[in-house]
Amino acid sequence: MGSLTISFSPIRSSSLFFVILIVVCIFLSLLPHSVHSQCKNAPIIFNFGDSNSDTGGLVAGLGFPVKLPNGRTFFGASTGRFSDGRLVIDFLCQSVKASFLRPYLESLGPTFRNGVNFAVAGSTTLPKFVPFALNVQVMQFLRFKARSLQLAAAGGFGNLINDEGFREGLYMIDIGQNDLADSFSTNLSYVQVIKRIPSVIIEIKNAVKTLYDQGGRKFWVHNTGPLGCLPQKLSMVKRSSNDLDPCGCLSSYNDAARVFNEGLRHLCDEMRSEMKDATIVYVDMYAIKYDLISNSTKYGFSSPLMACCGFGGPPYNYNIKVSCGQTGSQACSEGSQYVSWDGIHYTEAANTIIASKILSTAYSTPRTPFDFFCRG
Ligand SMILES: *[C@@H]1O[C@H](CO)[C@@H](O)[C@H](O)[C@H]1NC(C)=O
Ligand SMILES: *[C@@H]1O[C@H](CO)[C@@H](O)[C@H](O)[C@H]1NC(C)=O
Repeated sequence: MGSLTISFSPIRSSSLFFVILIVVCIFLSLLPHSVHSQCKNAPIIFNFGDSNSDTGGLVAGLGFPVKLPNGRTFFGASTGRFSDGRLVIDFLCQSVKASFLRPYLESLGPTFRNGVNFAVAGSTTLPKFVPFALNVQVMQFLRFKARSLQLAAAGGFGNLINDEGFREGLYMIDIGQNDLADSFSTNLSYVQVIKRIPSVIIEIKNAVKTLYDQGGRKFWVHNTGPLGCLPQKLSMVKRSSNDLDPCGCLSSYNDAARVFNEGLRHLCDEMRSEMKDATIVYVDMYAIKYDLISNSTKYGFSSPLMACCGFGGPPYNYNIKVSCGQTGSQACSEGSQYVSWDGIHYTEAANTIIASKILSTAYSTPRTPFDFFCRG
């Protein structure tokens, strides 16, 4: 009996070892996928907003030239994005293995199977009914949805989003920055700028409500960044030095952005209780971007208030007459050392960090992971 045990046990343990080895190998081969994302099927994404998430809408819609060096770092050509590379929304798409969003107004090429981008640079919520105000973007969505379902019903058209796709889709909104910027640039006083904020918030509510009434249940809302830290604003605004905060940003502009964000946060709370079957995630972009600027050296950046691409040199390297891509503008050699790409928009290097902070869920209310929106 003893010899039997002795003679069999090495065989048993070696086959067990072999089985364990295979299991470990299979596990390790699966690991890279599960670490990147749990997504079996990427969410269908519908995005609304301004240049923060415009992936070519202004170029497609108005033919507005967005030239190199925009796009130089990642795409090697201009794509209509205001950055040297990818935007935050591009990184979010990549995190769930979704393809980059194409602009709704792009007339050649796209099939829109995985989503649509209605965002156009310069967009505001108010005034309404002008290209490409938020309510116009939502009307474009309504038309897109009706047309998709109509073509599908007629048959013979592939690659269309179906009714389920619209219901399960993720609806993203990033707007408000230009409403604040426009208020300030028309010389409204701080008090007047603040007074205008509630009507902007109501427009965002109207947009979400319309999409909800259409069956949308998943919403992802970005608040607005520190407007007063943009090199463009810093270079153009007349000010006394006591208008600057400890980071060197314009206090009144940042205060207005924070008042707007409080209103938006409150709106999201309110909508969560009104639309109980909806998921509404509010993301604090302001905190992420302000941390990046105030702790820039920790993140490997040198001059957080100076544009990489522009004209005029320090301190802000911004000149509205010679903006990035226009004749006479110059771009820094190492974009990866700059937070600001062109004085208004962020570099791919900054967007990489911003996106990873978003994906951490630490800045989200509620702390819903982005891949929650994957299908299956
Ligand atoms: C705002 O004020 C500045 C300087 O006072 C002036 O140059 C500019 O034309 C004004 N803008 C508007 C829209 O009134
Ligand atoms: C900068 O970093 C420090 C240390 O991590 C942190 O305590 C602080 O909140 C950061 N600043 C901002 C504005 O987030």
